[in-house]
Amino acid sequence: MAIDIVSKQSTTTVLYVSILSVDLVLCRGLNMQPREWINTAVRIIEADFNRSADTHLVPYPLPAFPKIHLYFKDESSHPTGSLKHRLARSLFLYGLCNGWIHERTTLVEASSGSTAISEAYFARLLGLPFIAVMPKSTSPEKISQIEFYGGKCHLIDDPTAVYDESRRLATQCKGLFLDQFTYAERATDWRSNNNLAESILSQMQSEVHPIPRWIVCGAGTGGTSATLGRYIRYRRLDCGVCVVDPENSVFFDYFVSGNCELRCARGSRIEGIGRPRVERSFLRDVVDLMVRVPDAASIAATRYLSQVLGRQCGGSTGTNFYGALQLIADMHAEGSEGSIVVVLCDGGQRYQHTYFCDSWLAQQGIDITPHYQAIQRFVELGVKPSWSGERSPSCCLSAASR
Ligand SMILES: Cc1ncc(COP(=O)(O)O)c(C=O)c1O
Repeated sequence: MAIDIVSKQSTTTVLYVSILSVDLVLCRGLNMQPREWINTAVRIIEADFNRSADTHLVPYPLPAFPKIHLYFKDESSHPTGSLKHRLARSLFLYGLCNGWIHERTTLVEASSGSTAISEAYFARLLGLPFIAVMPKSTSPEKISQIEFYGGKCHLIDDPTAVYDESRRLATQCKGLFLDQFTYAERATDWRSNNNLAESILSQMQSEVHPIPRWIVCGAGTGGTSATLGRYIRYRRLDCGVCVVDPENSVFFDYFVSGNCELRCARGSRIEGIGRPRVERSFLRDVVDLMVRVPDAASIAATRYLSQVLGRQCGGSTGTNFYGALQLIADMHAEGSEGSIVVVLCDGGQRYQHTYFCDSWLAQQGIDITPHYQAIQRFVELGVKPSWSGERSPSCCLSAASR
């Protein structure tokens, strides 16, 4: 049964929707009973989940450190290209099952782009209008992907104003502010349901060191580190969660001081991670260690990793990798063996105008060369550099006990 679609959606979407029946996507104007619509919506999201394969766990050999096994959890292989595909699915199910999302709900989100891309995808599955409120500095690649899925982009100058502007827009159109920064930790099932942690641990089962010594990720909402930290505690695993933080972010200082009133005037330059305020989904008590990484080191690590993996990664993956290198150096210095898993958050295609553009680096006054050379010498020759950035005290059982 083909359903008429309002003209503002792209030709591809019209073609896409007119071919498929209501079984796969929900279209407007069906006047279903509210519960029937919610049931159909949940079924469609679960069916989409069922059609999706899990993301890969990619080993990366370190000849200079044979006793340490490094892996990348490649979240760029999700249908919408980032780790935010999991969160978007959870937020939609959370909104539907809370009775907040209905047949005519306009959805609004404050995002650095990745979450908005994934939410636009699910909004299209349910035939709902979606508006992404984002900083004007968001990469054009991300903006066009949101529009490809039928979303609208509402760009603002001040990155710290995305929350209030999203709330204002949602009130204005009597819609729903999905609010990932508040609900990420609540909407994600941290005990199972193939969350990121469960997926990593099940894919590590046949490895030499199946329980990673460290899992390294960044924090935007804090949802990823909350899920990882809770899951490993729930499963009573001797594994630590290390969270990296870029410049212009409050998470590192908040982790060390506990002061949740901290603020930053500027937004982070590493898209997706680092926040100008302490987000409600960032759970400090389930993080075991934090590493602050300068942007130049993050981008150098992104470029180096993209070169050695043979495909481009996003900036936050570079930040994660730089943090992991320091943990490798620690384990090597201790003479201990084990495995480390790094979250590969998204692909580099989205950052051609920034991290992979030399003139943008020059404009930002960022010189990656010394960091790039230091990373290369460390990974390939085992020559330990003096790391840039800062480390928090560790409160990880495993690190302390050994
Ligand atoms: C590319 C990228 N990496 C990492 C993160 C951090 O994830 P989380 O919001 O779960 O803390 C985000 C969040 O938006 C992201 O977009």
